[in-house]
Amino acid sequence: MKRVTERNAMRELSRAWRGRGERVGLVPTMGNLHRGHLELVDRLAERVDRLVVSIFVNPLQFGPGEDYDAYPRTLEADLAALQGRGVDAVFAPTAREMYPGVEPPWTGVDVPALTQTLCGAARPGHFAGVAVVVIKLLNIVEPDAAAFGRKDYQQLQVVRRVVSDLDLPVEIVEVPIVREDDGLALSSRNGYLDDGQRRRAPALYATLCEVGSALESGRQDWAHLEAQAARRLEAAGFDEVEYVAVRRCEDLAEPRGDEPRLVCLGAARLGAARLIDNVEVRLNR
Ligand code: PAJ
Repeated sequence: MKRVTERNAMRELSRAWRGRGERVGLVPTMGNLHRGHLELVDRLAERVDRLVVSIFVNPLQFGPGEDYDAYPRTLEADLAALQGRGVDAVFAPTAREMYPGVEPPWTGVDVPALTQTLCGAARPGHFAGVAVVVIKLLNIVEPDAAAFGRKDYQQLQVVRRVVSDLDLPVEIVEVPIVREDDGLALSSRNGYLDDGQRRRAPALYATLCEVGSALESGRQDWAHLEAQAARRLEAAGFDEVEYVAVRRCEDLAEPRGDEPRLVCLGAARLGAARLIDNVEVRLNR
């Protein structure tokens, strides 16, 4: 497993593989790897000949006052976790390597249809920062396929939309959410929870599942279901419920009532952690 820190070296390596007819895969991450990330690695490994994992805490996607400085950086443990999983290279550039020279503001990528709602409303600029770094990583590694988790549902749809709108030649492979036994979705931010908060945290998934069951039973009073779920999270001890929202899967717009699939998404704060989760439901229509 090669460790690469420079953009040019990464591109050369990947081009050499592709020149030999090998299919290259990329798993973009911010590190502090857990089983969720490793699931992306394992799923993509089955579909490509060469696998690159990028580890980069992207300053552009953190707003002022967010946890950029506190975000866990555990490179040595991450490298150890990737050993033996068929990873050919870890691309771990510095912020200066990724964003050299000139000061911000950087070239922006706006996906207005998807980024002004849900997490985008609470984190202005976040998805623009994600879009820029993902495009940069795709341009540096030039992968045939890249894997993203459904855990970050809105991010996945933003990436899909950018890839489609800008004709980026990459296949997006989406991977289901990996959870703890009690339902809590794995996240690097779960490490911010103390014992009491950790015990309350699974209520987010449980509550979204309840909304999912209500949708499956034919309920269409989305606003009522959303408000009820938010109250349940507050009662379960969440400090601030940012949103619980029933949306269409592809464009995250409010449902019309005839969709075959919907997604219920939630974001809530528990102490220092901002937790997000979602549940997709298929409806018999
Ligand atoms: P990060 O939070 O490190 O997540 C990297 C990838 O792992 C994302 O595609 C995310 O959806 C996926 N992932 C995280 N937890 C998961 C879980 N429990 N189950 C399944 N997949 C999971 O998302 C980012 O980094 C960044 O925004 C990035 C795309 C790397 C751009 O900086």
